[in-house]
Amino acid sequence: MLNIVVCVSGGGTNLQAIIDGVKNGRIKETRITGVISNNESAYALKRAEQNHIPAFCISPKSFSDREKYNDAFLDRLEELNPDLIVLAGFLVILPPKMIETYRGRIINIHPSLIPAFCGTGFYGLKVHEAALERGVKITGATVHYVDEGTDTGRIICQKSVQVLEDDTPETLQKRVMEQAEWIILPQAINEIAAGYGKTNG
Ligand code: GAR
Repeated sequence: MLNIVVCVSGGGTNLQAIIDGVKNGRIKETRITGVISNNESAYALKRAEQNHIPAFCISPKSFSDREKYNDAFLDRLEELNPDLIVLAGFLVILPPKMIETYRGRIINIHPSLIPAFCGTGFYGLKVHEAALERGVKITGATVHYVDEGTDTGRIICQKSVQVLEDDTPETLQKRVMEQAEWIILPQAINEIAAGYGKTNG
């Protein structure tokens, strides 16, 4: 059984896709042991509570400095002891120690076809604004491992989505979520869980 912790900052539709995937069997041999948000008003926390998943808000705002926040975040992760950490719209820079401790065990979903429209400053709607501004006809989403860089880790899977003539950042974001993110993130977790089962009995 792969124990996962999902880190979120906002609406949590990707978290919902994972919860649904675990329920409907698209994600096998996986248990969500906790959800951590940096934002107390994130709707993702409600989704976790509604599904009886332990939910925690650890906000940088509640700590006098970044180091104290990082320590609290790392302590909570250690308690939850995840086999895999899933960043599902988590908009916080990770503590370097977290990347070191969980190397090869953190994945992220990004709403573009990396290496397009990624890196510092590219998150949420901004990614789709940039794609429309550049006039690309195809965009999509990427699931990748997390390393020290921003969106630089090894790519696990990608799915393309068509851009339409009359798209706005909002309509494009919705299509990328529906046709790519909510499909490939559960898929990637299921594949990792299958591999984990083989090596860990
Ligand atoms: C998603 O589109 C996700 O790909 C993006 O934030 C959104 C979160 O939505 N993540 C990034 O931009 C990371 N660089 P959600 O809270 O509804 O899952």
